[in-house]
Amino acid sequence: MTEIERLGVVGGGLMGGGIAEVGARAGLDVIVCEVDDEAARAGRSRLWKSLNRAVQSGKITEADRDAAQSRLLFSTDLADLDDRQLVVEAIAEDEKLKVDLFTRLDEVVADPEAILASNTSSIPIAKLAGATKRPAQVLGVHFFNPVPVLKLVELVPSLLTGEQTLARAERFATEQLGKQTIRAQDRSGFVVNALLVPYLLSAVRMYEGGFATAEDIDDGMVLGCAHPMGPLRLADLVGLDTLAAIADSMYAEYGEAHHAAPPLLRRMVDAGLKGKKSGKGFYDYS
Ligand code: 3HC
Repeated sequence: MTEIERLGVVGGGLMGGGIAEVGARAGLDVIVCEVDDEAARAGRSRLWKSLNRAVQSGKITEADRDAAQSRLLFSTDLADLDDRQLVVEAIAEDEKLKVDLFTRLDEVVADPEAILASNTSSIPIAKLAGATKRPAQVLGVHFFNPVPVLKLVELVPSLLTGEQTLARAERFATEQLGKQTIRAQDRSGFVVNALLVPYLLSAVRMYEGGFATAEDIDDGMVLGCAHPMGPLRLADLVGLDTLAAIADSMYAEYGEAHHAAPPLLRRMVDAGLKGKKSGKGFYDYS
């Protein structure tokens, strides 16, 4: 099996943009597909900013940045993904949207050996595979935010994923992108979010119940447990809408109280307080 040279990413948000960036920095030709021109422009500008940040911190040279930019194309037409060898879906955590997208990708991507991957955190890979005529080439390839910084990729085969697909995705993540992988069963939350999400929700409940201030909850975990950031700041980084959507999928799968989104989290999402990306969540980023 040839290595991946042509990567497609659907969704140019925090995760999709990060995946596109590491792909382009690794020398791949990358097309990022967005819903409209405005979203494509916003995704491109975020990605350019992130590449400049990598130059400023000495991780890449200006020439590396320019080369990565030249390998990145933004599109609003899914049909542009027809020649891709791997497409990673990184759209909103919404099962219906993702199922519809996988049906479309299966029609558009011409090479029958091409892999259709999802960056979902919690939606069953089997449901996405079932929306295609190539279930053996569908799997979860789950990155972590910020993607250029965090080393982990969770590989999630469904019951129908082929061994060759899994092996090819493993080589892509490790040899081409320089990430480390772990494998997880196709269960909502996989390994990391199954542990992380109940913890983040507990912190929201603790704050909601008036146990402590947001700063003290976060300082508690940063200073007391050496976490790089506290749970409320991390919830803001993940996105409160994304956190609520993951909680809903996990609650639907397991029906356990510690996966239920606390009312405050829902009210904040209703109010447009989605965390860092919207400028305000538990903290103010404006
Ligand atoms: N993009 C690219 N690089 C970034 C970045 C970003 N968004 N944010 C930070 N960095 C880089 C900086 O350039 C810096 O690089 P350098 O050390 O070479 O100069 C390095 O990361 C450290 O950044 P800072 O000094 O600005 O800040 P911190 O030391 O506080 O680190 C952090 C920031 C990397 C975000 C760190 O706090 C961290 O790792 N936090 C935990 C993040 C985490 O747990 N993510 C997982 C979320 S769960 C998930 O994604 C799954 C999903 O399904 C929900």
